[in-house]
Amino acid sequence: MTSIAIIGGTGKLGAAMARRLAKAGRQIIIGSRSADSAERTAAELAHGATGLTNVAAAATGDIVIVTVPFAAQEATLAEIAPHVIGKIVVDTTVPLMPPKVMRVQLPPEGSAAQRAQRILGPDANLVSAFHNVAAHKLATDADIGCDVLIFGDDKEARSKVVALAREMGLRGLHGGALANAAASEAMTSVLIFINKTYQVDGAGLIITGPLTHADG
Ligand SMILES: NC(=O)c1ccc[n+]([C@@H]2O[C@H](COP(=O)([O-])OP(=O)(O)OC[C@H]3O[C@@H](n4cnc5c(N)ncnc54)[C@H](OP(=O)(O)O)[C@@H]3O)[C@@H](O)[C@H]2O)c1
Repeated sequence: MTSIAIIGGTGKLGAAMARRLAKAGRQIIIGSRSADSAERTAAELAHGATGLTNVAAAATGDIVIVTVPFAAQEATLAEIAPHVIGKIVVDTTVPLMPPKVMRVQLPPEGSAAQRAQRILGPDANLVSAFHNVAAHKLATDADIGCDVLIFGDDKEARSKVVALAREMGLRGLHGGALANAAASEAMTSVLIFINKTYQVDGAGLIITGPLTHADG
C-alpha cells in the first residue's frame, strides 16, 4: 500500500486530508516541525498513523502532500527537497497574503505551484491541487459536493491525485499543466470574497456539464 506523508499535517487542511485518507485505508505519516506535535496529531487520527518531523515524513512517504501556509512554503519545500526526488509531491499552497486574502496576489513565478517547482527542481513529480476545498468541511464526514481541480505536467501523476481525491469523497478533475494552477489558486481569493459577501460557509467549485472523457 502506497503511504502518504502530509507535511504540515498538524494543520487545518492537512489533518482533514489525513483523516479522510486514513479512513479510506491509506497509511498516513503526519509531518510537523515538531515530532511531538506530529505524534500527537497521528495519535488523534488513529488508523495506525505515525508522526515524524517534516523531513523524516517526506523521506518516508511514497507520496508527499504539502499543506503549509504560503509564508512557510519556500522554507518547507527547500527542507524536504532532497527527500522527494522521484516522488509525487502534491502542493496545496494558495498564495494568500494577509490581510488582503480576498484579493488575488499571485507570486512573481506566476503561481505558488510554479514557485514550488522552482524550489523542488525537476526531480520531484509536482502536482498542485485542493486549492478550493474548505478544510473545515473536509474535516467532517459530510458530502462536500465540490470538485477538485488537479494540475501537473505529468498526466500519470495527476491521475494518481485524481484517485486520491476520490478516496477523500471528492471529484478530482484534470486541470491541465502545472502553470494552470494559477487559475485555481486565484479562485480561492474569489471564493473567500463570495463567502463574506453572501455569507457562505465555505463556497466551492463545481464544473457543470456531463464529463464523458476521463483521460484528462
Ligand atoms: N484551510 C483551508 O481551508 C485551505 C483550503 C485549501 C488550501 N489551503 C492551503 O493549504 C495550506 C495549509 O493551510 P491550513 O489552513 O491547513 O494552514 P495552517 O493550519 O495555518 O498551517 C498548517 C501547518 O503548517 C505549519 N506551519 C505554520 N506556520 C509555519 C511556518 N511559519 N513555517 C513552517 N510551518 C508552518 C504548522 O505545522 P507545525 O507547527 O506542526 O509545523 C501548521 O499546522 C495553505 O497553503 C492554504 O492556502 C487551505
